[in-house]
Amino acid sequence: MQIIHANYELIDILKPLTNIAFVPTMGNLHEGHLTLIQEAFKKSKYVVVSIFINPLQFNSNEDFKKYPRTLEEDLAMLKKIGVPFVFVPSESEMLDPLQTVEIHLPQIAYDLCGKFRPGHFEGVAAIVNKLFNVVQPEMAFFGKKDFQQLFLIRELVRQLDSPIKIMSVDTVRHEDGLARSSRNSLLNVEDRKKAPQLFQTLSSMKEKAIKKSLSFSEIEAFGTQSLNAAGWIVDYLTIRSSQSLESPVRDENQLVILGAATLGSVRLIDNIEFCIHD
Ligand code: PAJ
Repeated sequence: MQIIHANYELIDILKPLTNIAFVPTMGNLHEGHLTLIQEAFKKSKYVVVSIFINPLQFNSNEDFKKYPRTLEEDLAMLKKIGVPFVFVPSESEMLDPLQTVEIHLPQIAYDLCGKFRPGHFEGVAAIVNKLFNVVQPEMAFFGKKDFQQLFLIRELVRQLDSPIKIMSVDTVRHEDGLARSSRNSLLNVEDRKKAPQLFQTLSSMKEKAIKKSLSFSEIEAFGTQSLNAAGWIVDYLTIRSSQSLESPVRDENQLVILGAATLGSVRLIDNIEFCIHD
């Protein structure tokens, strides 16, 4: 396994290769990341994993500082599963030139998580764009866990006419339903027990939407009240079109319920997709 720190070095190493499959991460690797890597290996033997905790996408310094950092364990894990290239750039390498690059995102970037985390998606887009330029992959893998991020990356690639294929991977969960996330390790024991309530609430909202017994806004209010009553602080719980992330238009049947809520001091996100049939 080659561990590369400098952009120019990675560019040189990858230059002769074609069909590169890229998995960008912020480290603290778990089953979710490993599933993305397995999917990448199904498409190519040249898998590149990046580990970079991107300060631009954190909207508080405190959140950035407490993000779990486990580089040694991450590298051991990647070595064990035979990843050939791991890119671990330094902050100066990644951030300096970004000061001149500004990416304009579509309006939906300022809704949902973008509304509660100002600047977050600009930070994600800037770093992903830069990583794409350095790695120049054939395809890149993203999890549906971060549904709005996946949507915006697809938009970015489309806007820039980039030939990179964006591949999506279903959310990997713990047995109790909680979506795997690096932030789960920040939950205390009590909150870890309560954390599956987010997915349970999304699931019961989905059942209600399919039954059509309540309006979408009533279902959203039901979900928000149940989580708030259980001690969460809900940022949003909303039913959207899975194609546009906007509020569903009449008769739209490809839907997603997106949620973000804080338990203790840990903000968790999750979502569930579904179809409504007549
Ligand atoms: P990170 O949170 O490390 O996630 C890296 C990738 O793993 C993302 O595509 C994310 O959606 C996916 N992922 C995380 N948890 C998952 C789960 N439970 N199931 C399936 N996929 C999961 O997302 C980022 O890093 C950053 O924003 C990044 C894209 C690297 C840019 O800095």
